[in-house]
Amino acid sequence: MPARRPAHPVSAAQAVGGPRPDVLVVGGGLIGLLIARELIHAGARVEVVDDLRAGAASPNAAGMIAPIAESSADIAFAKMALVSRDLWTELAPALEQESETSIDYDRAGAILPVLDETGRKVLAGIREQAEDLGEPTAELDRAELLRLVPDLRPGIETALALPGEHRVDNRLAAEAAAAALRRQGVILHRATIDSVVEEPGGVSVTGAGFAAAADAVVVCGGAWTPEIHGLPTLPIRPVKGQMIGFDRVDWPFSGAIRTPSFYAVRRAGGRLLIGASVEHTGFDLSLSDEVGNGLASGAAELLPALRDRRPVEHWAGLRPGTPDGWPLVGALTDRLYIATGHFRNGILLAPLTARMITPMVLGQAPDSTAPVPAAMQPGRFHQPAR
Ligand code: GLY
Repeated sequence: MPARRPAHPVSAAQAVGGPRPDVLVVGGGLIGLLIARELIHAGARVEVVDDLRAGAASPNAAGMIAPIAESSADIAFAKMALVSRDLWTELAPALEQESETSIDYDRAGAILPVLDETGRKVLAGIREQAEDLGEPTAELDRAELLRLVPDLRPGIETALALPGEHRVDNRLAAEAAAAALRRQGVILHRATIDSVVEEPGGVSVTGAGFAAAADAVVVCGGAWTPEIHGLPTLPIRPVKGQMIGFDRVDWPFSGAIRTPSFYAVRRAGGRLLIGASVEHTGFDLSLSDEVGNGLASGAAELLPALRDRRPVEHWAGLRPGTPDGWPLVGALTDRLYIATGHFRNGILLAPLTARMITPMVLGQAPDSTAPVPAAMQPGRFHQPAR
């Protein structure tokens, strides 16, 4: 674990306004915005800087809050994901209230159809693990499945239901978080940050047309984090995900359907998102017909009503991947913190990440409900600073 820094307690003078923020959050995706929100609630003066970069993970994600289905291979990860899912259930109404906008938070659950014998065994394992973790599960028969998803192809007789899986419109959630921050007087700057430099008494942050300083800085730069000079060398790599979207879907079921080859996740207003590819092609946002058609035809095999329809959207985002699949959440130096590398789970883990890092940044005792697992410590990858 990195050496614990001197606290950055919020002094009374700082709390009522000062020449610079206590904390500057570099990266205004959902994780950065929720960290800023948590810091504000703890009494800190916070500003955020983000460059609204094309391909950023947060607005391009599917918004699944899938603690079991997306982490079933790792029990420790699943436990942590469940804590964050529970935080989402409190956060969603709070964000809606603070911003006076809907974030389309949905608690309908996820359906995992049994496609074949191998799938049946895999789903039995997922079910067992979910139940070991105290999560509800159910087996749906075809009649129940058709009631929920009338488009399901013949031959699908049963499915595993995970009622504890949620989903959110990640774009609306980020917009709501930004609106809530603005209402609190938080300045959201727009700039690409080139460097962060720790100096006596603070951290200076510079980018094109931007220069600021703060007592502490939290970097939430996603896949672009390693491009910021002044940070240790960190093995964060972009992992492209292409997705497509259909409109005019009107099933009663408003949650997510998952198979080993794709997921289909609803949005309010009849939208259905299908994802996602996992491509190690660097900072590349090109869209390939092969991948888009593959997602469409894979989904149409299960949902034949999509067969004659054309997607209305096709896009790509860059997830920040790490070599071991765990995020980096913690201190890099006495004043510099990082919260990124959440790969496929950034939206899911955003509230927990904010809960984990806020006490660290403010030099407070850790939140007992949000301990930072050793697996997330950024020190595990530490290389000498550039
Ligand atoms: N969390 C979904 C994805 O990364 O595709």
